[in-house]
Amino acid sequence: MMSSYQTRRKFLATIAFLLAGILPATAQERRVYVPPSLDSVHAISAEHGMVVAQEKISAQVGADILRRGGNAVDAAVATGFAMAVTYPRAGNIGGGGFMVIHSAERKEAVAIDYRETAPAATTANIFLGDDGRPDIAKSRDSALGIGIPGTVAGLALALEKYGSGQFTLAELLQPAIALARDGFVISDDMADTLPSWHRRLARWPSSAKIFSRPDGTPLREDDRLVQSDLAETLMAIAAQGPRGFYEGPVAEKLAKAISDAGGIITSDDLRSYRAVIREPVRGTYRGHDIVSMPQPSSGGIVLVETLNILEGFPLSDLKQGSPASLHLLIEAMKRAYADRARYLGDPAYVRAPIQTLIAKDYADRLRAGIKADSATPSREIVAAATPPREGSNTTHYSVVDSRGNAVSNTYTLNFSYGVGLVAEGTGVLLNNELDDFTAAVGASNAYGLVGYEANLPGPGKRPLSSMSPTIVLRDGKPVLVTGSPGGSRIISSVLQVIVNVLDYKMDVAAAVAAPRLHHQWLPDEVRMERGFSDDAINELKRLGHAIGGTMEQTSANSIAVTPNGPLGAPDPRTRGAEAAGQ
Ligand code: GLY
Repeated sequence: MMSSYQTRRKFLATIAFLLAGILPATAQERRVYVPPSLDSVHAISAEHGMVVAQEKISAQVGADILRRGGNAVDAAVATGFAMAVTYPRAGNIGGGGFMVIHSAERKEAVAIDYRETAPAATTANIFLGDDGRPDIAKSRDSALGIGIPGTVAGLALALEKYGSGQFTLAELLQPAIALARDGFVISDDMADTLPSWHRRLARWPSSAKIFSRPDGTPLREDDRLVQSDLAETLMAIAAQGPRGFYEGPVAEKLAKAISDAGGIITSDDLRSYRAVIREPVRGTYRGHDIVSMPQPSSGGIVLVETLNILEGFPLSDLKQGSPASLHLLIEAMKRAYADRARYLGDPAYVRAPIQTLIAKDYADRLRAGIKADSATPSREIVAAATPPREGSNTTHYSVVDSRGNAVSNTYTLNFSYGVGLVAEGTGVLLNNELDDFTAAVGASNAYGLVGYEANLPGPGKRPLSSMSPTIVLRDGKPVLVTGSPGGSRIISSVLQVIVNVLDYKMDVAAAVAAPRLHHQWLPDEVRMERGFSDDAINELKRLGHAIGGTMEQTSANSIAVTPNGPLGAPDPRTRGAEAAGQ
């Protein structure tokens, strides 16, 4: 039997959790996106290269590297480190992510997996409470949810293998070091997020002192954010490479801070971390090649599976945003997301039938089950398990250079500001990525969602992700670089950008700005942004689709590559997103 303390704790955790779901965390996230008239939005052009990111200063840092002769990978590395300073809610060195690179110079595409891993002491039941049920406070709000950060290893590996050779890691770190040491003025966009996340950050004095004013209240717009410890940590990386982070004083401070907060990451865990170069997931769609992220992200597989289903429909004959087109998108998403839930996880631990899932004939079979005149109830698609909720405060940036190289990078701390813990003396804000594991097979979590076996926690394991950094090629050359934050909504967002560009021939800015919808199989409901016509919504209802709440925020910062140069589309859903060209 549960003690009254346990009952109260669970009750409070449940209330906090439900509030987090009902009351989106920040003013930024609360702001409902109202799409502009699509005729009025136009992409931003550049002559040579471009960085499109969710934060202005860092986009400009990357563009400056391009201007100085760097390639897209050099620029992506500089932008990634700069965002760890200027965009602390998702840019990071305390989290992880995925980078897809098209290297024109080497005529190859690769995926860099720098997803966080679970510490060696992780057990399958680590996120269960005493009652054997998932305890969300453990995976989301405690140091047990911290995965071993992968960003430093990932960005360094990308540079070592695919950088131009014109810049050292230390040189690319200089802008981030200066921004952390000298500080920068907080934008309206960042200021929006702090009031609602500050209490979570302020659980730890090491975090509170960075993100608070002298009177203890959250920093505000136009305040200066100085991160001296973070500057020192970045300098250690500049001096020693990744060893400056994963070994020595920084690693010792990270391990101590995590242990003091009740986590189980050790110095050995940090020393053992490795980023991995993987073969990307590849597909084709209407004469284009799709190159995207393989497991441990579900992104590329679900994207290619969905595109394969859609390829058999004459989408361009149906008006963009018309009920017939939306119906097909929803039905295709539903089927691919069902497979995500059943099969996918860390490839070191699960043997998913990837080649089947991304095969054209498999899509043919799924397509045959789609009815033009009615929605298929999700329960009829497959009686498997339900995907858990994923953190959505990730960030995506796209980079192209004048040499034909392209980088698509998505990285994250999971929740905004991760678990909220800045490791004392390091300035490193830590993730709560291990919440992306499924806490228990067959057990309901606080949302009544059921988990699945492929994604249970395990030592050294990488939790399943939805991040989908993607590059679309035509005749071997990049034509579109895209990706998005947004948890499970990432894949559907990337899908709609691609369909809008390839099927509907939309200007990339309009393709990104157009209202989006999302169906992830379960719950069996469509989430829609504002901007769809009432007629379309009513027709979807008539076809049997349940329309749920508003689709939460995504931000597909994309670049179209044209013979006349890159066209940037910073997503208008996020203030501060920037296309910086050269
Ligand atoms: N934490 C969100 C994701 O990896 O998809």
